[in-house]
Amino acid sequence: MALNFRQLNRIALVTVQSPSRLAKGAGRRIRAGYRSLSLRFKIALFVVVVMTCTSFVLSLLTVEIMNNYLKNEIIKRGEAIGRSIAASAGYSLLSNDLLGLDNLVFKAKASNADIEYAAVVTSDMQIRAHSDMTQNGKVFSLPPGNLLGTRSDATIIRQVDASDGSVFEITAPVVFMNKTLGSVVVAVNTSVLLAAQAEVRTRIFIVFGIILVLGTIASVLLASFIIRPIRELSAGVNRMKDGVSKAPLKIYSDDELGKLTLNFNEMSSTIARQQSKLNKYARDLEEAYVSIVRVVAAAIDAKDPYTHGHSARVAALSVRLGEAIGLSSGELKDLEVACLFHDVGKIKTPDAILRKPGGLDEPEYEEMIQHVEDGVAILDKAPSLRKYIPAVRHHHERQDGKGYPDGLSGEDIPLFASLIAVADTFDAMTTDRPYRKALSEEEALRELVRIAGPKLRADLVAVFVGIINEGRASGPPRTAAGHAS
Ligand SMILES: [Fe+2]
Repeated sequence: MALNFRQLNRIALVTVQSPSRLAKGAGRRIRAGYRSLSLRFKIALFVVVVMTCTSFVLSLLTVEIMNNYLKNEIIKRGEAIGRSIAASAGYSLLSNDLLGLDNLVFKAKASNADIEYAAVVTSDMQIRAHSDMTQNGKVFSLPPGNLLGTRSDATIIRQVDASDGSVFEITAPVVFMNKTLGSVVVAVNTSVLLAAQAEVRTRIFIVFGIILVLGTIASVLLASFIIRPIRELSAGVNRMKDGVSKAPLKIYSDDELGKLTLNFNEMSSTIARQQSKLNKYARDLEEAYVSIVRVVAAAIDAKDPYTHGHSARVAALSVRLGEAIGLSSGELKDLEVACLFHDVGKIKTPDAILRKPGGLDEPEYEEMIQHVEDGVAILDKAPSLRKYIPAVRHHHERQDGKGYPDGLSGEDIPLFASLIAVADTFDAMTTDRPYRKALSEEEALRELVRIAGPKLRADLVAVFVGIINEGRASGPPRTAAGHAS
């Protein structure tokens, strides 16, 4: 046969597993290009990165907006104080009431801790009243700074640099009877603004930090929720690939993932049906193959009427011995086929030699022992049968190295060949030959024990004797059935 059942089974499995193998190959290529992070981690990471960036930008914008709001509020308060003093200072300035003007600027200075100074100056910039009395009578000099704005009532707001930081300087005109008499200057230091800004900034960052932590937890939970059906789908694919379970996967929703799971369940069911059919075909082919091998073995045995059924008996005895020493079911199947083939080379041995009633002369003996190498040549023509060659070639080797064709000894002799040698020898002893009658099982076992060591493996013979004795104790004695090899 061109293919044995194992190859056919392998073809069936490859056919069934092709999609998963292709997916596996594609997966390897994908993993080669990307880092092997879980999908859940990637989704959570993406959400966290987006939230972090968004929170950071929003924090900066919020801080900026709050800073501008606080600055405007402080400037408005300074404007209100300046206008209030200006409204009250008109008459005092016209009447040169210095005591009244002093009262105004001191009250303003005392009203708010962030008022740096307050002053009333004339149109020609002479200081009439100043919260710092040492400035009274001096010329008010305008410090350098930036103009922040000018109001419709000619109030000017500037930010100027002071020795201990910047201040907002508000200059409100003093108008009395529609005549501008001078101006009130109120300076508000920025320390309050800076403190307020720091407070607001800290609170905003705390709030966004809390949002970020809660968002991260939520994103991990969300990712787990999204990934769950995908993970179960992946696990289902793996289970189907390993043949562990064919139960349909649970469908969580009617969305794209749900439809994908539904399609997977249908595909899985189809593949299971196909796999079942292919397995049945493989079993049928295996049975057909073994049947054909039995026919071939029977045909070989039929060349010599004395060896009728020899190969089948050797196979049965070898398999019992193989079972006793713990061979696997696969090994036992291979052993059985090897036994059926062990004398296949005799198909080339002339009938005159096979059926010769007496002993063989030297040329005939040489031709007879050639059957092992003829068997090798036959099996070598079919790749699927080559694995049986060691057993066929070496089943006439001896433990002491005096066998044929290679004179192997001890552990160099393949196990299957040693097993066949025990069963083959026993069957030859317990079947009739042209020149002698068959030995009884008891006699044959004694003979086996005698030649164990130099010819046969002693440990296998010991096990074999136990098997036969056990069979004799539980059933009728075995009868002779023709000549053996
Ligand atoms: Fe043989």
